[in-house]
Amino acid sequence: MAALARITHKAHLPFPASTTTTTPSKPRAARICMSLQENGPSLAVVGVTGAVGQEFLSVLSDRDFPYRSIKMLASKRSAGKHMTFQDRDYVVEELKVDSFEGVDIALFSAGGSISKEFGPIAVEKGTIVVDNSSAFRMVEGVPLVIPEVNPEAMEGVRLGTGKGALIANPNCSTIICLMAATPLHRSAKVIRMVVSTYQAASGAGAAAMEELELQTREVLEGKPPTCKIFGQQYAFNLFSHNAPVLSNGYNEEEMKLVKETRKIWNDSNVKVTATCIRVPVMRAHAESVNLQFENPLDEETAKDILKNAPGVVVIDDRAANHFPTPLEVSNKDDVAVGRIRRDVSQDGNYGLDIFVCGDQIRKGAALNAVQIAELLL
Ligand SMILES: NC(=O)c1ccc[n+]([C@@H]2O[C@H](COP(=O)([O-])OP(=O)(O)OC[C@H]3O[C@@H](n4cnc5c(N)ncnc54)[C@H](OP(=O)(O)O)[C@@H]3O)[C@@H](O)[C@H]2O)c1
Repeated sequence: MAALARITHKAHLPFPASTTTTTPSKPRAARICMSLQENGPSLAVVGVTGAVGQEFLSVLSDRDFPYRSIKMLASKRSAGKHMTFQDRDYVVEELKVDSFEGVDIALFSAGGSISKEFGPIAVEKGTIVVDNSSAFRMVEGVPLVIPEVNPEAMEGVRLGTGKGALIANPNCSTIICLMAATPLHRSAKVIRMVVSTYQAASGAGAAAMEELELQTREVLEGKPPTCKIFGQQYAFNLFSHNAPVLSNGYNEEEMKLVKETRKIWNDSNVKVTATCIRVPVMRAHAESVNLQFENPLDEETAKDILKNAPGVVVIDDRAANHFPTPLEVSNKDDVAVGRIRRDVSQDGNYGLDIFVCGDQIRKGAALNAVQIAELLL
């Protein structure tokens, strides 16, 4: 599919506008008619020039999200740039305190400090903010939502009341993990979960993707790699996630998996531990997840449960050694699960190992946020 949102005057966007295999594509004209609707909500996309911001536009378009107007907001650096979205020309505006006048839903992806500053301002104006940063995730009273997992958490939030609200999108690794773990949890109750992640460059934004591409070229040409984003060589290497390391030895990304899982499952007793690693993959995260259950759950039943889970596909062909890969899930909506096997270190059917891959810009960020917005319609 051709890019639906195109920024002019921007040298290079390293990520293609994505396509999805789950929704059959419609002729472009039909999509435009369905999306631009007088009675649809007015939207704002904050951080529209970034990796997630661009994906918001692709997802809104792919899903025919109805809107009567859309504001493209970014930093002062981007103000005045032109952007084509669904065949219409938009001028990117600088995010300011008066940006949310008359905006019903704002999709935020401009980093935690911007969310902390402008999220409450938007709410004050009556806007419902769906925030992709970690700024409000653990704040009591702010729903932290994966629509397939806990839509009930945002039950009190409604459009058209004039009342603003904050809704938080979970961390991308948490979303991908829980898309697969939750259906099994519902069946046998997870009491302990051990997660090891293999996280892509795109999780650190557009600049990290550009640097991975540049470093790869530099290393192959025998030149010293440019190390501005992570401070170390990323191409042909892997390292512990770049999030700050805390006093307990875990990094912030790992503790997000621990805390967010408890909030989303509404279970303060579930034991979660995680090790998060950056790997030189351009797009889509992979995660090895070990589960311990309160009740028995055998391999075949688990496979059937996952095959029927919304937003999940099972890729588990042992004979062909074919299991999920980041490349296969890139630009896709569904999270892929495979390597579904009984954990031999546990007695009986009380443990399972699974391997999960998901496009974290898509389901881990933009798609999840747009699905949240759809629940408001
Ligand atoms: N990448 C992912 O997979 C992912 C997944 C989940 C959540 N998130 C979260 O989403 C957010 C954005 O991530 P990203 O990967 O899209 O980053 P990115 O590619 O670096 O984009 C950052 C965006 O924020 C805008 N911005 C920066 N400073 C601003 C300011 N002062 N006022 C208004 N806009 C400003 C940038 O605008 P300019 O172009 O004008 O600088 C750009 O549009 C982060 O909070 C991140 O943690 C990302």
